[in-house]
Amino acid sequence: MKHYISIQDIDSLPNLVKEARDLKANAKAYKHLGEDKTICLLFFNNSLRTRLSTQKAAMNLGLEVMVMNFGSEGWALEYGDGTVMDQGTSEHIKEAAQVVSQFCDIVAIRAFASLNDKENDEAELVLNGFKKYTTIPVVNMESSVGHPLQALADAITIAEQNTKPKPKVVLSWAPHPKALPHAVANSFAEMMLKQDAEFVITHPVGYELNPKITKGAKIEYDQNKALKDADFVYVKNWSSYNDYGKVVNQDKNWMMTKEKLGTAKFMHCLPVRRNVVVEDAVLDSDQSLVIEQANNRTYSAQIVLKKILENLH
Ligand code: CP
Repeated sequence: MKHYISIQDIDSLPNLVKEARDLKANAKAYKHLGEDKTICLLFFNNSLRTRLSTQKAAMNLGLEVMVMNFGSEGWALEYGDGTVMDQGTSEHIKEAAQVVSQFCDIVAIRAFASLNDKENDEAELVLNGFKKYTTIPVVNMESSVGHPLQALADAITIAEQNTKPKPKVVLSWAPHPKALPHAVANSFAEMMLKQDAEFVITHPVGYELNPKITKGAKIEYDQNKALKDADFVYVKNWSSYNDYGKVVNQDKNWMMTKEKLGTAKFMHCLPVRRNVVVEDAVLDSDQSLVIEQANNRTYSAQIVLKKILENLH
């Protein structure tokens, strides 16, 4: 593996999930791989899980880790070609990306969608800018349109918990007071479409995700119908894609409850707003997999970094 930018960088999902589960059983077995190598984690946005799990994964592989809160501590970056930089930006991505390459062997980047410019968000200016101008592998720690490390952790979690040849997996929209990006839902949908699963997406009218990403998934606007006989229910808020970045509906009836969940397992990437997105009774029950999902973030990052390191040797 050269980079991990999206789910499409995975050759064989079953093999990668199996290798991640093997790593989980013996997390320090490849500590020699990262010897004398450094990973730099650049955060343009906040994080708890991604920051700690990627750091932990890197340490398990013997890597040195440098972390920078680029969004609050770095220079404001310019992305345009030929821009006369006499306004707010101080440093061009061309120099910044090449400079980062001088100090480390792998760079991992978190840069969320702005949600006010669909074209720029879909162009993935930060991630693709680094990929274009660095000479080192790039890992996506959540970009404008995808969160592939989270989706891989989710696939590992489902593999650990699943008891059926073809489980029913439902991705359900939930209300939220803020406009949130589509990255988690996009990558989860892409991941489920790669799995042997009956995959259904449910949301109110107006919250259709990018049809290029959900092509092949069943869309069901009736949440109760979608949840019938579900084995895994993944709950997530996202803003409108068509009316880009807008909150077009906050219907509280879409919150996940114990009654609606039935016997299914509950999944969420976290952080989650209790009693807005999902009620306490779900999160506090043994049907909730959220902590195991968070734990598996280490092994999703670790298998990706291991593959990249093997390619560097
Ligand atoms: N799920 C996830 O990516 O969590 P953080 O935003 O805290 O990293």
